[in-house]
Formats: sequence, C-alpha cells, structure tokens
Amino acid sequence: TATPKVSAEHFAPSNIALCKYWGKRDTELNLPVNASLSVSLDQLGSRTRVEPIESVSDEVWLNGMRQPADSRFASRVSAFIDLFRSRHPELAFRVHSVNNIPTAAGLASSASGFAALTKALDDAFGLGLSPTQQSVAARLGSGSACRSLFDGFVEWQMGVREDGLDSHGVRLEQTWPGLCIGLLKVDESEKSVDSRAGMQRTKETAHLYQSWPLQAAADLSRLQQAIETRDFALLGSVAEQNALSMHATMIASWPPLLYWQPGSVAAMQKVWRLRAEGLAVYFTMDAGPNLKLLFEAASRPALEAQFPGLEIVQPFGV
Ligand code: PMV
Repeated sequence: TATPKVSAEHFAPSNIALCKYWGKRDTELNLPVNASLSVSLDQLGSRTRVEPIESVSDEVWLNGMRQPADSRFASRVSAFIDLFRSRHPELAFRVHSVNNIPTAAGLASSASGFAALTKALDDAFGLGLSPTQQSVAARLGSGSACRSLFDGFVEWQMGVREDGLDSHGVRLEQTWPGLCIGLLKVDESEKSVDSRAGMQRTKETAHLYQSWPLQAAADLSRLQQAIETRDFALLGSVAEQNALSMHATMIASWPPLLYWQPGSVAAMQKVWRLRAEGLAVYFTMDAGPNLKLLFEAASRPALEAQFPGLEIVQPFGV
C-alpha cells in the first residue's frame, strides 16, 4: 500500500492534435472512437504541485487563484485525486497548477494540467508508474491529457480493451526541427459548450459523424507518412482538412455547434490567401474559435509580419 509522504511538483507540456480526438466510445473511461496524433508544445504547459493538507476537502489553486470548491474545475480535480486516494480516503491535498501558456494564446490547458497532476500524484503516492501507465491515468482526467505525458509527436492508440488499459499515448521516434506552431487568438469569448458535451452532441445527433472515424483513420496514416518523409505540404494539408472535417461534424449536430467567430473565418481566409500567394502555412483548430498555424522556420519572419502578436513554438528546436 502506497503512503503519500511528500509533496511533489511536475511539469507537462500542452499538445496540439494534427489528427483530432472527437467522440468517445466510453464516456466514463474517456475511450476514444478514433486514434489521434499530436505534437507537444515543449516548454509551454502546466506545472502542478500537490501537498497533503489537514482538511476534509481538497484545495485547488489555478494560476494563483483559489478555485471555489464547487467549481467545475475543482470538482474534476478532486474526482481525479479520488482515483489515487482510494486506499487513503482520509487524505486531502492542496493542488497548485500554474500554466505558462500565454493567456493571449487562447489555448486550453486541461491536457497539460491533468498530465502534470498525474505525474505529481504518482510521485506523492510513491507509485512508480511508467509513462504509459501515467498516460492511461491522465486519460481519465481529460482524454487529450494522455498525449501530454510525452514530448514530440505522440499517437494516442485507441486500444481495444474495455478497461482502457491499452488506450494511451505512444511517443513517435521522429522529430521535425524547424516545425513551427503559431498560436493565433482571434476571439476572447468563453466557449459555451465544452469538448465533452460537444462530442456527445455530435455523436448523438449528426449523421455526418458516421464518416468521421474513416476520415480520422485515413488522416492518421497520411500524417505518419508525412512525418516519416518530412513532407510539410502533406502534414499541413492533412491537419487542416482533419480539423475542418471535425468542425463539419460539429456544425451538422443539433442544436448546431459552431465554435467559429467571424474572426476565425477571417483568419482562415487569410491563411488560404497567403497560401495561394506561395506561403506554406496551414491551420488547425480545436473546440474553440482560435487557430493554430502550422509552418516551417523559413516562413517564420513572413508569418510574424502577417500576424502581429503570433505566439510561436518550435517543438523540436531550430
Ligand atoms: O481532452 P478533451 O476532452 O478536452 O478533448 C479534446 C478535443 C480536441 O481538442 C477538440 C481535439 C484533440 O484531439 O485535442
């Protein structure tokens, strides 16, 4: 029986999916309908500290602000700690999570947050989980968190088991020096439908969703090929089409789910115009209005000029 003795602090990177996770085959265990593939954002992510406290309930702090115990975030964190605390139900924790993702980038932090929390709890409870086991655990907090246990390109293998033990991230050995991700925030507004509710609505109401697993499977293998051969046009075009296909299934839901704002569409049209003019830039989008631009280091000055304030990450260095 593991006994938590120490506090622990760990970092995990955020990740951007090039082939998206959209739809659960098991909503309790966060088992996906399709495999996905992401790239981790190197130094951008969450640093999370856990410390045992004398209290009847957990305390959750996010970016230095105490979260109300009944808030959605604090409840999710507490429920996640329950998975580790089953043998020590008397223990409460103070959790401090700090994201170094610039707020201006408009990037969700649940993936890096649950991945860092998993590492910290593993350490605090002295469990000695392997990265793969940590990935399985993090998946239970937020599906995409299972990809944030690893750097670089990560495939989330969907697995076939009902208990989900084979559904986790796997790091790809390939790297891509010079690959750039530009975080383009186009709209401030909070999303009203989170990814969990959005996936469920899409799966239950959009007939178009039936084609999604086929699209995702084809895209995943084309992305693997693009990474293998360092074919940027293939990588970018597959990622962009994959994101738009996911959004098509959202739009085809009822009530319709449109995460785009006018600024999102304007940014897409700008990317398409720049591409027509010869600049190799593509975009991907998640369940929100912001774009993530994909380009290579040679195009960086041009993109910085076109999108002032663009936050750029080079996950594999120069
Ligand atoms: O991990 P969740 O439940 O927040 O879902 C993430 C869903 C997308 O960001 C839209 C796609 C992805 O694969 O990251």
